[in-house]
Amino acid sequence: MIMVDHTGTIVIVNQEIERLFGYTRHELLGQSIELLVPEPMRGPHPALRAGYLTHPTARRMGAGRDLFGLRKDGTRVPVEIGLNPVETENGTFVLASVVDITERQRAAAERESLLRRLVDLQEQERRDLAHELHDQVGQLLTALKLMLETDALGGVEEMKLLVKEIQECVRGISTNLHPPTLDDFGLLHTLQWHFPRYTQQTGIRVTFEQSGLDARFARRLEAAAFRIVQEALTNVARHTRVTEVRVAVLAQESRLRMLVEDAGPGFDVDAAARGGLGSGIMGMRERARALNGSLNVETGPGSGVRIVVELPLEQPAP
Ligand SMILES: Nc1ncnc2c1ncn2[C@@H]1O[C@H](COP(=O)(O)OP(=O)(O)O)[C@@H](O)[C@H]1O
Ligand SMILES: [Mg+2]
Repeated sequence: MIMVDHTGTIVIVNQEIERLFGYTRHELLGQSIELLVPEPMRGPHPALRAGYLTHPTARRMGAGRDLFGLRKDGTRVPVEIGLNPVETENGTFVLASVVDITERQRAAAERESLLRRLVDLQEQERRDLAHELHDQVGQLLTALKLMLETDALGGVEEMKLLVKEIQECVRGISTNLHPPTLDDFGLLHTLQWHFPRYTQQTGIRVTFEQSGLDARFARRLEAAAFRIVQEALTNVARHTRVTEVRVAVLAQESRLRMLVEDAGPGFDVDAAARGGLGSGIMGMRERARALNGSLNVETGPGSGVRIVVELPLEQPAP
């Protein structure tokens, strides 16, 4: 908080202002308020001040504009300023509350960039889905069309088989997109449904440990948790030749802790990051962050991979 008289001379400052601008109160008292106003606003400021004094009301300064204060060390700090006129027999004083909004702006920028990455992630998933549809379903349909066109009557049985294959393919893609059990039966059931399917497709056994999963959690938490485990398991199948993977999902107190661990070859995280990590690990991490959680990859060449995820159970209403 800072108070100036009608000439713009600083008459009161509090500790907050001393800390924010890096001056002691003795350095500020008696100085013109313009000391704290950076260019290009410093020049026009006295006129704006005079204008304010002709209609002094309690209001925000510079509505809609980005305001900055000038620190003693010459750096600029983003601020929000509220003005309050104080009428006295010695004229109008103005009491200004100055709030450092650096942290608020940083948080907003972070949210924005997270949002952008989530949109990218979604776009990537759509691309993958488009490929899958095109490659698998498209190919089968083309084969079916060819058979129909050649009018091979003897091919009816074969065509029935093909249709069955298409059905299974569509079911598989649709199930991967959103397991139908997730909404109805929750995370535990969906994981228990997924593991044998995974083992059947990859030959990798899943050792599963859980606690506290009988409860239901926020829908988006369950979906993200499932996706993360699913992606981590896909990586194990894709990048290792292990025959076993360990999964632990523990709901404890206020958080969900998840662990996916394999004893495969591991990888060099820094090298992978330089090569621009695949969308898989990035995607898992973004999902965790979007829920105010975290994801760590513990690995190194020859030492397996351990994906450690923590998600707060308490999620704001959607
Ligand atoms: N469980 C794992 N074991 C060994 N290497 C892994 C494992 N998971 C990921 N990696 C390495 O990290 C890279 C990035 O993974 P990811 O982001 O999922 O992309 P992608 O699977 O599409 O390559 C992989 O290309 C692989 O080299
Ligand atoms: Mg992957």
